[in-house]
Amino acid sequence: MNNFQYKNPTKILFGKGEIANLSKEIPQNAKVLLLYGGGSIKKNGIYEQVTAALDGVEVVPFGGIPANPEYEVLMEALGVIKSQEIDFLLAVGGGSVIDGTKFLAAAALYEGDTPWELLTAGKPVAKGMPFGAVLTLPATGSEMNSNSVITRKETQEKLAMSGAGIFPVFSVLDPQVIRSIPERQLANGIADAFTHVLEQYMTYPIGALLQDRMAESVLQTLLEVAPAILKDPTDYQAASNFMWSCTMALNGLLPLGVPTDWAVHAMGHELTAMYGIDHARTLAIMAPSHYRFNFETKKEKLAQFAERVWGITQGNVDEKAHAAIDKTEAFFHELGIATKLSQYTDDFQGTAETIEKRFTDRGWLGLGEHQSLKPSDVAQIVTMAY
Ligand code: NZQ
Ligand code: ZN
Repeated sequence: MNNFQYKNPTKILFGKGEIANLSKEIPQNAKVLLLYGGGSIKKNGIYEQVTAALDGVEVVPFGGIPANPEYEVLMEALGVIKSQEIDFLLAVGGGSVIDGTKFLAAAALYEGDTPWELLTAGKPVAKGMPFGAVLTLPATGSEMNSNSVITRKETQEKLAMSGAGIFPVFSVLDPQVIRSIPERQLANGIADAFTHVLEQYMTYPIGALLQDRMAESVLQTLLEVAPAILKDPTDYQAASNFMWSCTMALNGLLPLGVPTDWAVHAMGHELTAMYGIDHARTLAIMAPSHYRFNFETKKEKLAQFAERVWGITQGNVDEKAHAAIDKTEAFFHELGIATKLSQYTDDFQGTAETIEKRFTDRGWLGLGEHQSLKPSDVAQIVTMAY
């Protein structure tokens, strides 16, 4: 096992009715900017629950943060933070609203003129305004991590930042919120969380027995609850296991002391930036090709995944490893998620070359757990995913 240091400062309020406890977590006399997305919270009752819980607190609402949070919109919100002297941010939404809020937390304290530099600098974000979250869509783990992914339409870019300064102070996780989530977004959430685990597990054996088994448990739990969630999102038992699995998939516990990959996300983000494809679906497009291309370096973990998660006991290492990739792709299909780029756009020719050039220009010359995937390899993987 490799050395590691770990600190996660986010307080979790988990369970039925926890939204009502919001005000206890917000500093007294704070002026709060309540950030939300396209309006789902106004239709499903979450907005009323949040405002009722914040009775007596000075709240300024800011809606309209789109899925794949957009820099231009966030810059408007930054103007409100400054002009209204806001001192606490509250994200009420899925990964997009929470990531947008993290960006704002950092941008509010950023000393340069162009906060986009936070995303291009490649430096950990050390400081941010305090903020909390009410999670409405289990998927990204953003509610308990310090990552933020921001999109800039103008330049067709989608870039990530992270750092100790942008952990939420608290996050409220009431599994009942999933009742109103459309089936497509539920499937996305399952696929995203599943892939988060794979990115931190599907590398090479390093003798981290507990981390491996924790990762496998999250994968098994997601597989077990997925059919129940899709059939009936009011099933509280399934909803609560789904929600906590998504958080555990990306709250920083699984990568401790082990190599991680994250190439599937790096390539997937480009597909969202270029074609607007839902984040989780880009992962389902890239993951099978990525594992097939990197078969030799990943096959031991693929075979372990086959045995322990899929229950495949027949065959040698290569056969088990291939079967695990096929099972994973079939699982995405069962979720209703297509796994080829050409199923999302007719305009896919040239995608591999564009991504190869972008990675080269950014100096992303060695991706994956061995930092060995060159932009030309990335182009081959993307081509395999057409
Ligand atoms: O905008 P509203 O109207 O609220 O509707 C949203 C949105 O259209 C809707 N929704 C959310 N909660 C709902 C609901 N509809 C009904 N009932 C509810 N309770 O769902 C749609 C998608 O929401 P979004 O927040 O975009 O989804 P998700 O949570 O999947 O977040 C995706 C974003 O997170 C980034 C992705 O790149 C993408 O930008 N990621 C963030 C990560 C992180 N911070 O660690 C890691 C991930 O790998 C990912 O990259
Ligand atoms: Zn993801």
